[in-house]
Amino acid sequence: MQIDILTLFPSMFGGPLTESILKRAQEKRLLSLRLHDIRNYATDKHRTTDDTPYGGGGGMVMMPGPLIDAVEAVRGPDRAVPVILLTPQGRVFTQRVAQGLAQHSRLVLVCGRYEGVDERVRQTVITDEISIGDYVLTGGELAAMVLVDAVARLIPGVLGARWAADEDSHAMGLLEYPHYTRPPEIRGLRVPDVLLEGDHAAVERWRRWEAIRRTWRRRPDLLLSAELSAAEQWFLADLAEQDAPMLL
Ligand code: ADE
Repeated sequence: MQIDILTLFPSMFGGPLTESILKRAQEKRLLSLRLHDIRNYATDKHRTTDDTPYGGGGGMVMMPGPLIDAVEAVRGPDRAVPVILLTPQGRVFTQRVAQGLAQHSRLVLVCGRYEGVDERVRQTVITDEISIGDYVLTGGELAAMVLVDAVARLIPGVLGARWAADEDSHAMGLLEYPHYTRPPEIRGLRVPDVLLEGDHAAVERWRRWEAIRRTWRRRPDLLLSAELSAAEQWFLADLAEQDAPMLL
C-alpha cells in the first residue's frame, strides 16, 4: 500500500512511522509512505499557505490554491484514490473504518491546521473526512499517524502470523481477553489454572468468555453488535445479573 501524506510539518512524522513494525513493513515494501510539504505548492515568495477568514473572526484558514494543487499533483490522474482530510468534523475512526481503508492500494491523507481548510478544498479534492475522536488536536498530523498505524498493521504480511490482527480488541467486536506470561505467580497473583493445563479448547473457551466479561464491564455498548453464540448469550445474561458495567 502506498500512503501519501500532505502536511505543513513533515518532520513531525519521523519517530512513529520509522520504528518497529512500520519500519519493517516499509523495508519489506508492503508499505510505502511518502511525505509532502504543502508549502512546496505555495506560489508567493514567502511560501504562504494560510490566510485570514472572509467574514472576519479569529484564526487563520488554509488557502485552497496550494492545497488543491498539492493533492492533484500527489494523487495523479486516478480519481478513485481516497483523499482523506483529518479533521474533528469527520466520521469517527474505528477498527471497522481501518479495515475498510486497508483494502485500498493507495491513500492520500491531508493534515489540516489552523481553524480549518477553505471549504472549496472539500468540494474539489477531498473524498472522505476522518476524526480520531471527539477532541480537538492542534492539527491532523497526529491523527494521520494514528490512522497509518492502525491501517498498516492490517496489510497482509505486516504482522507475523503469530501476531495476526484477527484476535485484536475490536476485531471480533469485543475487547480482548487478559494475557499472562511467566512467572506463574507474582505478588500473590496466580495465572488462571486453565491457561497452564494445555487443554486448547478449554483455553479458547476461557478466552472468549473473558473477552465477553471484559467487554460487558468496560464497553457494554459494543455487545449490541457483537456476534455471540447461544451459550455465550446465556453467559452474558448471567454476567448481567451478577455484575454491573463499570462507569468509566
Ligand atoms: N485535527 C484536529 N483534531 C482532530 C481529530 N480529533 N481527528 C482528526 N483530525 C483532527
